Amino acid sequence: MRHLRARVWFLITVAFLLPACSSASPSALRPRGPAAQRIDGLWWFMFWIALGVFCVVIGMLLFGMLRRRKPDSVERGSGETAVVLLGIVAPVIILVTLFVVSIHDLNALSAPAKTNALTVNVIGHDWWWEVRYPQQHVVTANEIHIPTGKPVLLHLSTGDVIHSFWVPQLSEKTDMIPGKINRMLIQADHPGVYRGQCAEFCGLEHARMSFLVIAEAPAQFDAWTAAESQPLAATTGAAARGEKVFLHSTCVSCHAIQGTSASATDGPDLTHFGSRRTIAANTLPNTRGNLAAWIEDPQGIKPGADMPPAVLEPSQLQALLTFVEGLK
Ligand code: CUA
Repeated sequence: MRHLRARVWFLITVAFLLPACSSASPSALRPRGPAAQRIDGLWWFMFWIALGVFCVVIGMLLFGMLRRRKPDSVERGSGETAVVLLGIVAPVIILVTLFVVSIHDLNALSAPAKTNALTVNVIGHDWWWEVRYPQQHVVTANEIHIPTGKPVLLHLSTGDVIHSFWVPQLSEKTDMIPGKINRMLIQADHPGVYRGQCAEFCGLEHARMSFLVIAEAPAQFDAWTAAESQPLAATTGAAARGEKVFLHSTCVSCHAIQGTSASATDGPDLTHFGSRRTIAANTLPNTRGNLAAWIEDPQGIKPGADMPPAVLEPSQLQALLTFVEGLK
């Protein structure tokens, strides 16, 4: 019993301390865009109402307990009026107010039917994110670049099961449903890297289905799309040997690299893989060591992922790493 009580206290303490641990946590209460700001406002509005209700209930409970201990000499009423006011009228007013405010915010968040905003198609897969910029002819994965200060229209869909797109500091959650395209506006007011996460359980690696939104000044964003729309330039030396390894291994069954014969779309497009910050849907930093571990034993890092291990000689692996790292 004493152990159980100690554990309960430990968990309560940890629960209170954890949110303070990381100032870089992608908390919805640190909004960085208009949609997230609106949600933050709604959250605090609900919080203060809930706190008020909690204080009233606890206050009445204490009042009742203290009053009960005194000798009952005064005639009391039945309390019917208080029950009607606090038990029926007040909850109805509070719930209707919350409902109306929530519906108002929900409407304000929905994307308009017509907009000239930059459009990005994001497709959820078990367990990674395909990202397409149809106007710029750019295809990438797990990292969504957007210009700051402008709304960007996202077309959200799925290649398999239901996923949910959520960037706590920038947006509401929007489900990605088979056979449907959901629309959502996203906007970042300040440059930065914002973590997003799949918010709908979608299988074994749901927790490792993460991504980054990289918000940058419009000129920087334009430079990025211009670079990303370029196919692979001719390779030389170790990179050329690595390209040969790539094109003669199982890699080509799933991945595409524009400018080569690799054109499969089951896995992430790798044309500019070297310019991404992370691998395996934001599971590991994009370093040579992590990449080697991922290519040799993806199941050891992300059990259940569709990627099979590549069986390569050490020299082949090194050449392949040089090639893939150079895909900038
Ligand atoms: Cu995709 Cu959870």
